[in-house]
Amino acid sequence: MNLLPLLPITILFIFLVHRVFQSLKFKLPPGPYPWPVIGNLNKLKPNQIHISYFELSQIYGPIISVWFASNLDVVVSNAELAKEVLKDKDQHLANRHRTGPISIMTKNGKDLIWADYGPHYVKVRKICTLELFSPKRIEAFRPIREEEVRIMIESIFKDCIDPKNHGKSLVLRKYLGPLAFNHVSRLVFAQRFENKDGVMNKQLLEFKALVANEFKSKRILGFNEFFWRLNWMSRLQSNTFSKYLARREKFIQDIIEEHIVEGKKSGVAKHHFVNTLFSLKKEYDLSEDTIKVLPWGMVTAGMDTIAIAAEWAMANIIKNPEVQQKAQLELDHVIGLDRVMVESDISNLPYLQCVVKEALRLHPPTPMLLPHRASANVKLGGYDIPKGTNVHVNAWAIGRDKMVWKDPLKFRPERFIEEEIDVKGHDFRVLPFGAGRRICPAIQLSMNLVTSMLGHLLHQFNWKLANGMQPEEIDMEEALGLVMYMKTPLQAVPIARLPSHLYKCVTENI
Ligand code: HEM
Repeated sequence: MNLLPLLPITILFIFLVHRVFQSLKFKLPPGPYPWPVIGNLNKLKPNQIHISYFELSQIYGPIISVWFASNLDVVVSNAELAKEVLKDKDQHLANRHRTGPISIMTKNGKDLIWADYGPHYVKVRKICTLELFSPKRIEAFRPIREEEVRIMIESIFKDCIDPKNHGKSLVLRKYLGPLAFNHVSRLVFAQRFENKDGVMNKQLLEFKALVANEFKSKRILGFNEFFWRLNWMSRLQSNTFSKYLARREKFIQDIIEEHIVEGKKSGVAKHHFVNTLFSLKKEYDLSEDTIKVLPWGMVTAGMDTIAIAAEWAMANIIKNPEVQQKAQLELDHVIGLDRVMVESDISNLPYLQCVVKEALRLHPPTPMLLPHRASANVKLGGYDIPKGTNVHVNAWAIGRDKMVWKDPLKFRPERFIEEEIDVKGHDFRVLPFGAGRRICPAIQLSMNLVTSMLGHLLHQFNWKLANGMQPEEIDMEEALGLVMYMKTPLQAVPIARLPSHLYKCVTENI
């Protein structure tokens, strides 16, 4: 007997029984009625999920249930509920949701970012904090940040004085991206994979191919995962994945070996994160898997976020010429016109600091933070959140909530001067780095770097739009991938403001 025609009816029946069971057992947050198999996918714009969630919150309220195919997602969109998720109930909401591909890439959460909360997580978070993000380490890495910013400025200067570029705009991302990439690769691997003139070595080409491959694979396999019946596709592709993973592991292994050889030759191996993990292996009982996946996660976390934060900030600054002018007045007053900015100037540049905060309020690079997962049944806003639910905080929507922000869509750094508002996880109205136990561990480092990038860009250049384009014509459309990009890369014309010798970056280590 052919049972195929009965399949849709069976699926529908199972779905309805499951729904009735869920609604009797749990008082779930409100949300659109889900369809069998697809759930509420028909309500979600693939590249703008944060906006879809925001629109649904306008209909159903600040806490909503959204069925991502067969997965229940709960999304909160106001400061009070964010506090409940990230502070009050943090203990039960600190696990991560790992899709199939992410599980494979991280060896089932053996890294930091995708680890569930527990002894392994506490251990690796402690190591990362001590080795990368403590005040001592941040200060030790300062020369790297300053050097990378100056290399970027020199490269913009070279391109802007090139006669063939005269009056033409440059794509800012072309300069911000390499800076972020080289910065994090120096932190983690203690090396740039390209020289100052942008010539890449073999390792960099491999590294870039691996990163591109990783993003592509996560997209394809992550998408399949949302559908019960398409999981077989993930399994079909897992062979490709295993090959990719082996390549990635070889990359790390080669780096470890290279440094062992270097150490033997010179007596001192360069200090870097991979080496450190290797040397702490026994003391902290670190597995080989952890040593291989942890550095990789750090690179992907620290690469795009920095470049994106700076690009959005520059777009807002160029869109608001009075902000550019005000920031330059402050920079000229504090630094003058015969030297360039250094990080220690930041504390004397309150307006510039507010520009960074305002940009992070309007355009948090990870607008939904990272997915938290309930490790037990909990209550949020009076609703039941069953164990295993993915809980998202829509930081993008919270930063634009008109109940707490005056003229929320206006780029007005002054609001951070009028009221002291923390962006480092203490004030739940603005959460670019999250809050609570899963808060971004790289806040101070990121704030230093992004503020320094903007300070240099504004002190050393005037930024104008080309071809009579008006500021209001800048395309501010957002595209959400792993992070929230500008859909149309920002382009502008830099005009040098300082004597030309100040654009040269003299480097010793590159
Ligand atoms: C402007 C720059 C950055 C922003 C806006 C940002 C934002 C975030 C956010 C929202 C989270 C998730 C918080 C949560 O789940 O509640 C996060 C986690 C994380 N970030 Fe950042 N980040 C930035 C830069 C960096 C950099 C430069 C690094 C490393 C070099 C880094 C490493 C991490 C790590 C390791 C985690 C996972 C922490 C955990 O799960 O415990 N981030 N970041």
